Amino acid sequence: MCDEQQGLPLIGDKAPSFKALTTQGEISFPEDYEGKWVILFSHPADFTPVCTTEFMTFGSMAEQFAERNCQLIGLSIDSNYSHIAWMRTIKERIEWNGIKNLEITFPVIADLKMEVANKFGMVQPNEDDTHAVRAVFIIDPEVKVRAILYYPLSNGRNMNEIFRLLVAMQTTDEHGVATPANWEPGNEVIVPPPGSCGQAKERVEGAGDDYHCLDWFLCLKSLDD
Ligand code: BEZ
Repeated sequence: MCDEQQGLPLIGDKAPSFKALTTQGEISFPEDYEGKWVILFSHPADFTPVCTTEFMTFGSMAEQFAERNCQLIGLSIDSNYSHIAWMRTIKERIEWNGIKNLEITFPVIADLKMEVANKFGMVQPNEDDTHAVRAVFIIDPEVKVRAILYYPLSNGRNMNEIFRLLVAMQTTDEHGVATPANWEPGNEVIVPPPGSCGQAKERVEGAGDDYHCLDWFLCLKSLDD
């Protein structure tokens, strides 16, 4: 496997490295985030309505992500001064959805030259050639891209879903299981399907207290924690 990817990163690839100016000073990825999950997300522009609601939602959840060992990093093709002014406006003037007086503490990249955006395929010219789309890259502590979401300019993302996915992937890593549709912490998880006829038989015959099977390929269990 290559250390630096050619072309756009896909799930399973090593995430491209970068240095960037942000609202929290210069950052170097991945060096500054060793051992952490990182959610790198882009928004089209500062001082725009959908982006403001997204930022306020992510900002209000930053602690929740930090408790999951995950650092948020925002990005748009705006200057650092614009980012700073927008964040001051959010803190001082905007009250929305029960969120007010919000200090955004995660770094937001000022990517005027589109250097980082282009590495992550965040500018999608048929949608808009001067603004980033709403991209989300979830990157694990091994610097591997684990999930990618792309949304259009017109529709805000669901930050609860992004958090849910992070927790689901961490649960997969910790317990070697998969998670079913609409999984939430505390729900049953999926035992990896058997890889041979013998294992399939064993799996079905072994069902009992630890796990139960709807069929040989779909077995579920509870996690104790
Ligand atoms: C918004 O965040 O509201 C927005 C940004 C760019 C284009 C359209 C909407």
